[in-house]
Amino acid sequence: MLQGAYGISKSNALLHEYSSLMAEAVLRERTRVAEHTARIESELASKVKSEFISNMSHELRTPLNTVIGFSKILANQQSGAMDAEQVIEYANLINDAAAHLLTVINDILDISKIQAGSYTLDARELDVKEILSRQIEAISNDAAAAQVAIENLLPEALPPIRGDDGKLAQIFGNLLSNAVKFTLPGGKVEIESRSSQDESLTIIIRDTGVGMTPEELAIALEPFGQVDGSRTRWREGTGLGLPIAKSLTELHGGTLNIRSEKDAGTEAVLHFPSRNYLSIAAARDAVFGGGGKAGGSR
Ligand SMILES: Nc1ncnc2c1ncn2[C@@H]1O[C@H](COP(=O)(O)OP(=O)(O)OP(=O)(O)O)[C@@H](O)[C@H]1O
Ligand SMILES: [Mg+2]
Repeated sequence: MLQGAYGISKSNALLHEYSSLMAEAVLRERTRVAEHTARIESELASKVKSEFISNMSHELRTPLNTVIGFSKILANQQSGAMDAEQVIEYANLINDAAAHLLTVINDILDISKIQAGSYTLDARELDVKEILSRQIEAISNDAAAAQVAIENLLPEALPPIRGDDGKLAQIFGNLLSNAVKFTLPGGKVEIESRSSQDESLTIIIRDTGVGMTPEELAIALEPFGQVDGSRTRWREGTGLGLPIAKSLTELHGGTLNIRSEKDAGTEAVLHFPSRNYLSIAAARDAVFGGGGKAGGSR
């Protein structure tokens, strides 16, 4: 009996020892994994940061160099040496470069305002068809130059929504510009809509372009995130269009979902609630949790 009790307490002690050894081993393994993950994350963060700085300085410097270079040529010309056509051509180059620079700077200001939760919208009842058609028209020259066909499959009229026309134009413009920019010659971009009985509105912008893997899509949705962030990337841009479009849609109480398949194409699905469903103020509270501050997507 006594020996039995001794045996039990010995096996208990052994079990105790085993369990603490196991716990130590688990802890060691967890620490190792955490250290490894932290190292990879910090390496990735510094890679993204340096890619961002190099890409950003390229995006700012290129148009600035155009402005400085061509305005200098114009200023230094002997009077009357340059013909009027050439002067107009140079002035247009300066104008385009300055307009591009303004877009980049506005995008940076927009994303920082969105992240600070200090973005305000004008809320009016809007004709979405008119706003979207204007943006399709605006991208048509770029599409023709890129040999990308645009198929406008929108119906005669779309249900009105409440929102800010400038911001809606920005959302559509960013998504259309991506669809054209990342589609190879011979491809196409389709724009269609679906409206449901509750008068909510879905707009779909679909392309047959280069597409993205799920990992690439996650990067693309991050501010400044670009699938190919290298200096020699095949398309220009700062990586702000998609996150701005997503945040502005959410400020309207809507959603933006991107579906993409590598080498097959991308579909951007915008959904806006009916004009009666949410006021802009309620949408803002939904996005910012009622406190007027952004939850911070980063
Ligand atoms: N329709 C698309 N097809 C394939 N890749 C896309 C598409 N839209 C976006 N991407 C990828 O997502 C990245 C981020 O897109 P985003 O619009 O935010 O930035 P950008 O177009 O590079 O620059 P910006 O819009 O600021 O001028 C792009 O660089 C591209 O790699
Ligand atoms: Mg873009």
